[in-house]
Amino acid sequence: MNYRHAYHAGNFADVLKHVVLMALIESLQAKPTPFCYIDTHAGSGNYPLDGFEARKTAEHKDGIGRLHPAEKAPPLLRRWRASILGSADNAQGLKHYPGSPLQVARLLRPGDSAQLCELHAEEAAKLRDLFRANPQVHVHQRDGYEALKALLPPREKRGLVLIDPPYEAQEAEYRQIEQALKSALQRWPGGIYAVWYPIKLRSQVQPFLRGLQHSGVKRVLRAELLPHPDDSPLRLNGSGMVILNAPWNLDEVLREPLRVLASLLSQERPAEWKLEWLLDEAGSQLNVPSPLPASRLSRPPGRR
Ligand SMILES: C[S@@+](CC[C@H](N)C(=O)[O-])C[C@H]1O[C@@H](n2cnc3c(N)ncnc32)[C@H](O)[C@@H]1O
Repeated sequence: MNYRHAYHAGNFADVLKHVVLMALIESLQAKPTPFCYIDTHAGSGNYPLDGFEARKTAEHKDGIGRLHPAEKAPPLLRRWRASILGSADNAQGLKHYPGSPLQVARLLRPGDSAQLCELHAEEAAKLRDLFRANPQVHVHQRDGYEALKALLPPREKRGLVLIDPPYEAQEAEYRQIEQALKSALQRWPGGIYAVWYPIKLRSQVQPFLRGLQHSGVKRVLRAELLPHPDDSPLRLNGSGMVILNAPWNLDEVLREPLRVLASLLSQERPAEWKLEWLLDEAGSQLNVPSPLPASRLSRPPGRR
């Protein structure tokens, strides 16, 4: 539990994650019935950009710091940028970067609710302070994977689970996510599940994505953005969000924003991006992540 999101808040990976998050919340808001947002790894909720951690890495400068007001930016990006900047004129004037809980809390309508899980005591205390006066938001200092067993299905019967772990366990984290998703889907098959993942070496994420193609869930979409080539294990080269039970038009909603983000977030070379369905409405595999060794391709008996 050494990870502190304050070192990374507002970086290029946060930008991708939070733009996708806004698209998902807006899609839930297309219907007037209330929804529930569940954040399994919530963090502290709001991060000072002039604090020691942010100044040490300055990662936000290549993330939210690049979101200049592009005149022809797609409406989703403009709405997201405005919701982050608030009264600041531009990202340089931004004092705090809001984390996923605060971004979503600002969008909740009367009747919607949020359940936030954070295991680290100090981060959870900050989160609790932030939402002390907000009766729609509930903070739990506990393991987010375990908490899903108690929180699902939510009373509202509609909503979204964000799984955004720090991957301190590296590839072993994927096994925990797979277990958590399996049990969550049994409790709440109709929920939307969005999982953030880091991309260092492409081969580290392939088994996870391939596993999702056998999860029995329909409509699995992945969105990735890579400022750097995915060939070095030593740095964060890019990141992705994979969405299970994704809204049917999410690819259309995200395509133009992703294209523009890739150009805004490019560094020493044009950033790459990917947006594709892994499974379609009928549960058929569409885009199998590039080939694995033959030994990993055999399917377990009895599964699709
Ligand atoms: C990447 S940060 C979360 C960022 C946040 N979702 C956002 O987008 O603003 C991951 C957080 O998970 C917390 N954490 C680590 N293991 C956890 C667990 N098993 N359950 C809940 N929280 C955990 C860490 O303390 C850290 O604050």
